[in-house]
Amino acid sequence: MYLLIPAAGTGKRMGADRNKLLLKLRSQPIIAWTMLAAEAASSISWIGIISQPHDWEDLKAIMADLKLTKPIKLIAGGSTRQESVYNGLQALPADAKQVLIHDGARCLATPDLLNACAEAIRHCPGLIAAVPVKDTIKVVDESGIIQSTPDRSQLWAAQTPQGFDVDLLKQCHAEGVRQGWEVTDDAALFEKCGIEVHIVPGEETNLKVTTPQDLAIAEFILSNINYTQNG
Ligand code: CTP
Ligand code: MG
Repeated sequence: MYLLIPAAGTGKRMGADRNKLLLKLRSQPIIAWTMLAAEAASSISWIGIISQPHDWEDLKAIMADLKLTKPIKLIAGGSTRQESVYNGLQALPADAKQVLIHDGARCLATPDLLNACAEAIRHCPGLIAAVPVKDTIKVVDESGIIQSTPDRSQLWAAQTPQGFDVDLLKQCHAEGVRQGWEVTDDAALFEKCGIEVHIVPGEETNLKVTTPQDLAIAEFILSNINYTQNG
């Protein structure tokens, strides 16, 4: 299975002086943990890291340090996640029928979750890892007044990995460019094009490292992960 890792953001909400994925969590940069999970997932045979060329020197040093055995390619990112994934899709090897897309910032996803998504995408056009929402969610207007309370039993929190048929995802991205759609994940493009997207049970620990508080939580979760025991 081919895996694209969007890693070309700036990490604005983290507030650091560089791409948050280069910040350390325990002994390794955040992106190194994501690479290690991909390396340990037996279903993954090729990895594309979508990233800004000014980070390539650092990324190459991290890759050399990890001694990864799988083919790994650096792909130039865009100014939004959507553009970055678009670039990643163009850089896939020609024989890629399906692809997994997994955010570099979700460095705690286990190899088991990557493997489960790789297996499931062989049987449907699109999927995402997701978990049921635990909080009651409110729809709030600009003045801070609650408008409604959606039925929680129908709400899921979207994660990555997300998996797709490559041809369909390329078509959806092209339609997104034509229509000017701005989305925060690829599943949303499938939804807008009317193609079904399935749910794979995600992991409560699969948080997206976004703010400085997330770093502390991720450090705690990482202390319980050992990739040599996953497959
Ligand atoms: N990403 C990307 N290209 C962009 C923007 C984001 O590849 N132009 C990637 C990020 O590197 C990250 C993933 O998409 O792995 C999810 O994005 P997010 O967590 O929002 O990261 P940033 O955009 O870097 O953070 P922020 O929104 O706080 O600036
Ligand atoms: Mg962002």
